[in-house]
Amino acid sequence: MLTATSPIEASVGQRDPLMPTGFDCGAGLTKLCLSSNGKQILLRQPSKVLELKSPLLEELNSPEGGHFYYHSGDRSDLIKRQFLTGELVTWKASITHIKLSDDPALKAEYALHMVLGALASLPHRQQWKLFLVISTHSRKLFNDRLKQLLTGNHIVSFGGQNKPESKVTISLEAVVPEGAGSYSYTKRLNLLDSSTQVIAIDLGTSTVIPQVFDPGGKLIYHQPLEIGGCIDLLEAIACDVELLQYLGTGKAGNVELIRQGIEGGEFNYGSGKFNFRHLYARIVKTWLGHRLRLAFKTTQQWRDAAGSVVAWGGGTQMPGIARMLATQSVTAVPSGCWANAIGLQTIAAALLARRS
Ligand SMILES: Nc1ncnc2c1ncn2[C@@H]1O[C@H](COP(=O)(O)OP(=O)(O)OP(=O)(O)O)[C@@H](O)[C@H]1O
Ligand SMILES: [Mg+2]
Repeated sequence: MLTATSPIEASVGQRDPLMPTGFDCGAGLTKLCLSSNGKQILLRQPSKVLELKSPLLEELNSPEGGHFYYHSGDRSDLIKRQFLTGELVTWKASITHIKLSDDPALKAEYALHMVLGALASLPHRQQWKLFLVISTHSRKLFNDRLKQLLTGNHIVSFGGQNKPESKVTISLEAVVPEGAGSYSYTKRLNLLDSSTQVIAIDLGTSTVIPQVFDPGGKLIYHQPLEIGGCIDLLEAIACDVELLQYLGTGKAGNVELIRQGIEGGEFNYGSGKFNFRHLYARIVKTWLGHRLRLAFKTTQQWRDAAGSVVAWGGGTQMPGIARMLATQSVTAVPSGCWANAIGLQTIAAALLARRS
């Protein structure tokens, strides 16, 4: 978890204020950005869910995941059920769980689970009142479903059935197109010229999405490439013969360990002796090259008019990517993994301010 402030601060100050919150439910990583007492809190967790059919032997804690028991509330289908999310899922059942990357519809179906799992990693509060803005790649398909699944009151216990109850009240204020949050974040950083068209490339886990915004910021083009996102790079490393030889089981490596090795910057595979820096260095250039070529091809007609070409998404934070993008005159937005969630949170704050 990357916190702009200590989570402790989430529980002090004004009683139960509405918290403007941005929620980016990615196929690989769920990002939640909320504001409490003027402080920004950033929570992320792997987009994984597991229903617990029996109580845990011991309470599990991680800054990148949570455990909640649903007592009562507007989601009658969840009453008396309990779930793990994020890293707790990979600890408890590394293979037999629901991955939101398996089907785009799952991002909506499990949106509430991911929000509750994220809150579970923060200090206890009796009440959370989230004023939520969320993004989706298809408002036509998911707008109503997201409203139905998220909105309302949810009485839960974080950490297990017998823990103190929290009342989580969610009002879903807006469902915006994927990229709207990142655009707003990038604009605030003065990294794009909003008076012209803007081309953006989202390097995500499952998808690489070229997008084009009109002068002013309305989305006019959004089409994921047929080729996959960062997961293809991780899987290529997982299947490399050198790693297979090291593992000696005949099975591919664990992509979660590879993701952690890349994010840690050391390229160590788990806690063993295998280092895959040289594999990454070899594979990353072709991986990015193919995706940039395809993204440029599909956005060719806007290229001359566009005042800025930027990239966001967690892929821009992988080692060497920002530098490689710069050689192609593409500006990588800092903290690209968070761009969308932080931007959505800013949109939520602006909507809330307009109300009062
Ligand atoms: N700080 C970081 N350093 C290195 N890599 C990172 C960092 N943050 C995120 N990534 C990597 O970026 C990749 C994409 O992450 P991102 O959060 O954009 O995907 P997503 O939003 O879940 O996927 P999608 O957009 O396809 O739904 C992941 O493989 C992740 O490991
Ligand atoms: Mg994403």
